[in-house]
Amino acid sequence: MKFFIDTANLDQIKEAQDLGVLDGVTTNPSLMAKEGITGRNNILKHYVDICNIVDGDVSAEVIATDFEGMVKEGEELAELHNQIVVKVPMIKEGVKAIKYFTDHGIRTNCTLVFSAGQALLAAKAGATYVSPFIGRLDDISTDGLELIADIRLIYDNYGFETQILAASVRHTMHVINCAKIGADVMTGPLSSIEGLLKHPLTDSGLKQFLEDYKKGN
Ligand code: G3P
Repeated sequence: MKFFIDTANLDQIKEAQDLGVLDGVTTNPSLMAKEGITGRNNILKHYVDICNIVDGDVSAEVIATDFEGMVKEGEELAELHNQIVVKVPMIKEGVKAIKYFTDHGIRTNCTLVFSAGQALLAAKAGATYVSPFIGRLDDISTDGLELIADIRLIYDNYGFETQILAASVRHTMHVINCAKIGADVMTGPLSSIEGLLKHPLTDSGLKQFLEDYKKGN
């Protein structure tokens, strides 16, 4: 299972990279705005800065919602760095753009996916990744993990190579349950990765080991 971090914060990206388990980064316009990154040139530069920190794929989202605009922006983003994956929303023009990018060797991440039907369309268009937003489904009393399981079943039925990128992950149990279901990738905040470290028996066990060592030395 690949671990992506879902942030545009360079310090957090560095921290996750230093842990040695990071496989990539996802961003979106809201995450960029949260870091105060505005203006096309600054945003493009920030993507390159992120690529220079991590070894893996970095999702960069198009803003246009028409086919021609998405293609123009996506080609510009893909030119920035070979780690860039063009993030395209699950709308009709987006499906056409994903197909175009697939045919032209540009990797894509189909975002804002909330149903199995949308995930099926993304795979048919050849998306590299599909991003079902599980936390946002949970927010409206719909089981996000059930969607991951449905997509896994459908993709396995037909051997689709599109990778399931569980997005809008909020906490460690999302990560663990996505791993149990077989999501290919999860993207979440640093806390969802670092939270996996924690166990009180690890802490008390280590404390005891160190105390016992001190007694004999
Ligand atoms: O990866 C999708 C993500 O950025 C959305 O997360 O927590 O805003 O639902 P959230």
